[in-house]
Amino acid sequence: MSNNLLKGKKGIIFGALNPDSIAWKVAERAHKEGASLIITNTPVAVRMGETNALAEKLNTIVIGADATNVDDLNNLFIQSMEKLGGKIDFVLHSIGMSPNVRKERHYSDLDYNYLDKTLDVSAVSFHKVLQTARKLDAINEWGSVVALSYVAAQRTFFGYNDMADAKALLESIARSFGYIYGRERRVRINTISQSPTVTTAGSGVKGFDRLLDFAERDVAAWKRYCR
Ligand SMILES: NC(=O)c1ccc[n+]([C@@H]2O[C@H](COP(=O)([O-])OP(=O)(O)OC[C@H]3O[C@@H](n4cnc5c(N)ncnc54)[C@H](O)[C@@H]3O)[C@@H](O)[C@H]2O)c1
Repeated sequence: MSNNLLKGKKGIIFGALNPDSIAWKVAERAHKEGASLIITNTPVAVRMGETNALAEKLNTIVIGADATNVDDLNNLFIQSMEKLGGKIDFVLHSIGMSPNVRKERHYSDLDYNYLDKTLDVSAVSFHKVLQTARKLDAINEWGSVVALSYVAAQRTFFGYNDMADAKALLESIARSFGYIYGRERRVRINTISQSPTVTTAGSGVKGFDRLLDFAERDVAAWKRYCR
């Protein structure tokens, strides 16, 4: 069912790789609610994944952009405003990647070049998106920017590895940039702490089954507590 909640709104969605991606589901839902969207992902992901199929389904285009590359982000915002016919109302940052997780490096034996990459892709890219948008004045007043986080930003989930550090930084960027952009232009910047979900990025985390199990038991306990 659609309530046209986003009728007339213009959005940019980062991170839809395949139908399991959280960004994929958000894009489908936002489209259903009447939003006009630009879909974006890295040029490699666009070639290898199914991002183009999503854009076709939603009757829009894909603009390739590596979110760690400021020139790509500049081009993305400028082209998106041209294509959508005005400033952007909402942005979803649904991006995460850790070479240390991929290569199964233990948290006490991190490769620091990999760590740099983890932090750049999974956290600093959020700052780059916000800084680029603000310099271009690309987001409407009262616009909304959301990034996806995880509870490991605040509590110890050792299997989540250096992604926990990235999420802590991501949340800090949301607070610090939110203070500036919110006061200046009323642009709201938030993170949502996603529960474990079977996706390409999610399933790569060591002990993912245990995280899923923990989340399910935690929710059940809260439901009992709230009754
Ligand atoms: N799946 C979970 O259990 C879970 C839990 C909490 C938070 N999250 C977060 O949700 C977000 C989305 O992940 P997902 O689970 O949908 O997995 P996913 O693998 O489908 O999405 C990750 C996306 O990041 C993109 N990406 C990687 N490097 C990029 C770069 N340099 N520039 C632009 N895009 C890049 C990938 O191409 C991919 O589309 C991530 O931030 C992830 O950390 C996921």
